[in-house]
Amino acid sequence: MKVLGITAGRKNSNSEILLKEALLACQNEGAEVKMINLKDYNIQDCTGCTICTHGMSVGKKVDCMLTTKDDKDALMKVFLEQDAIIFSAPTYDLMPSATFLKFMHRNLSYETAFLGSIGAIEPKYPVAGLIAVGGSTRSWQSMALEAMAATTFTTSLKIVDMILAKRVPAPAQCLLQDDLIERASLLGKNIIKAINTEPSKRTWLGESEFGWCPNCHSNALIKGEVQWDGTFWPIECQVCGAGGDLEKDSNGNWKFIIAEDGLKRDRMTDEGREHHLDEIKATQGGFYTPENKNIVGLKLKKYLDLKFPGIDV
Ligand SMILES: Cc1cc2nc3c(=O)[nH]c(=O)nc-3n(C[C@H](O)[C@H](O)[C@H](O)COP(=O)(O)O)c2cc1C
Repeated sequence: MKVLGITAGRKNSNSEILLKEALLACQNEGAEVKMINLKDYNIQDCTGCTICTHGMSVGKKVDCMLTTKDDKDALMKVFLEQDAIIFSAPTYDLMPSATFLKFMHRNLSYETAFLGSIGAIEPKYPVAGLIAVGGSTRSWQSMALEAMAATTFTTSLKIVDMILAKRVPAPAQCLLQDDLIERASLLGKNIIKAINTEPSKRTWLGESEFGWCPNCHSNALIKGEVQWDGTFWPIECQVCGAGGDLEKDSNGNWKFIIAEDGLKRDRMTDEGREHHLDEIKATQGGFYTPENKNIVGLKLKKYLDLKFPGIDV
């Protein structure tokens, strides 16, 4: 069992400590453990060139143009060999820090389902655990776990547990909350339990009532809007895309009830994400007609010529 811990927190502080506690539990159950802090590596921003997705649309693996320019590729070689990955990140402005997001947004050129489908890799379908750390309560960490979860789709990670570590603003302050440390250890044990479960039978092992969404346990819902192909549900899960509506149970508590077809766009599954590839084909694919290119070329001239003063520093 190979388990990798990836953190983006301060050195020797909350994210690192909680991750170490979870990894220790994994190690105690026999896992081979590695841990990295992203602050120790050179990770460049995704340039947005999309050569990777253009490669995907023609069924060809195209390496990221930054492959030889920073440490991402060397880290991904290890990442893709793991049975489980545990991430921990500090919350900045309600969401995971930029260091975490910068690393994870580069995963697009390592799209596991695609690379597996063309035989470029043997997908391992690792399990994952998430730990988001913040100085406040859920109210000020409202997009932390949700944004972390969204970054795990591309590498087909199966999230089985999540922790929102609240009210730990100062360095290593989590050490004053013994229950939090124990919870991190439990996350580690849950990760091992999931690794030892057949992939098709792996389920959520965190608190059963955690979050709004019974599918991915995110705590964020959005008002539905008609999608590109006419699909509509009144309420959608912001993270996995489950569709349904709000209903009150017999105790008067609101529940998010997933519609019968509400998981057909479940972004947590390779099949669900295929719908999005269809969307990309229909929208980006449609863009590259000679007629559209001509229209854009003519209209673009105005913006190429339009210049405003920048800021000299
Ligand atoms: C720029 C910045 C923004 C922050 N924004 C939030 C926030 O929106 N919500 C919150 O709960 N904590 C916020 N914090 C507090 C950190 O999440 C907190 O200090 C946490 O313990 C950092 O984790 P670490 O000790 O692992 O680095 C912020 C801290 C910084 C430096």
